Amino acid sequence: MRMTSQSLIYGHRGVPVKFPENSLAGFAYAISQGIDGLEFDVHLTKDQVPVIMHDEKIDRTTDGQGAIADYTYAEIRQFHLKNGEPVPTLAELLALVSGEPVHLNLEFKTDKHYYQNIERIVLHMIHETDLVYPVVFSSFNLKSLQRGRALDPNQKYAFLSSAKIGDPEGFAAAEHLEGLHLEHYQAMHDVAERVWTVDDPAEMRQLFDKQVSGVITDDFELAQDIRAAV
Ligand code: G3P
Ligand code: MG
Repeated sequence: MRMTSQSLIYGHRGVPVKFPENSLAGFAYAISQGIDGLEFDVHLTKDQVPVIMHDEKIDRTTDGQGAIADYTYAEIRQFHLKNGEPVPTLAELLALVSGEPVHLNLEFKTDKHYYQNIERIVLHMIHETDLVYPVVFSSFNLKSLQRGRALDPNQKYAFLSSAKIGDPEGFAAAEHLEGLHLEHYQAMHDVAERVWTVDDPAEMRQLFDKQVSGVITDDFELAQDIRAAV
């Protein structure tokens, strides 16, 4: 049984070192290998279906082109990730993790394009799923976290920041957040709840020593090996 003070390891967009990022194949593999948690990014299609992808556009990761917000779910389903699977929906991922002891870090991708009602739609789906742990919602858009928290204060909310925040703990307390998710180079000095994207073994060791709540990495198997040796 793992110690509560030990950092959890989250797969950043699943397992991008082995599978297409944010793919069901990657998520399923990670779960089969006993990963602690999964980080993934959520947008809404034109007809308000939550889908999992990092970018606002499908160009980089699929065989299609254009913005997610301009396609209906039926339309976007015709495009494929590099391994041939269709663009995953949040519903498909939730079916995969239902009942599994896996922590979820769901990132609302609302900083470049705001999807109306995304928090309400996503939280409704979360409530309908048998999840073992509260979800950690993160976003670069503070408004999404405020909206989420107003709808369900029993989940966890963490602000993503690439910029330095003077008083991270004061900021989190004032916003009623669990904490901050910081980029790895900042988290070496500042207080962070979880840290991304940690792929350097020396940084992993430092963060495991600091016992941050979570290390979000592209290579969870490397992180598992390093944590086991700390
Ligand atoms: O949630 C941590 C990390 O995923 C935030 O950055 O751009 O990879 O979604 P990004
Ligand atoms: Mg993300």
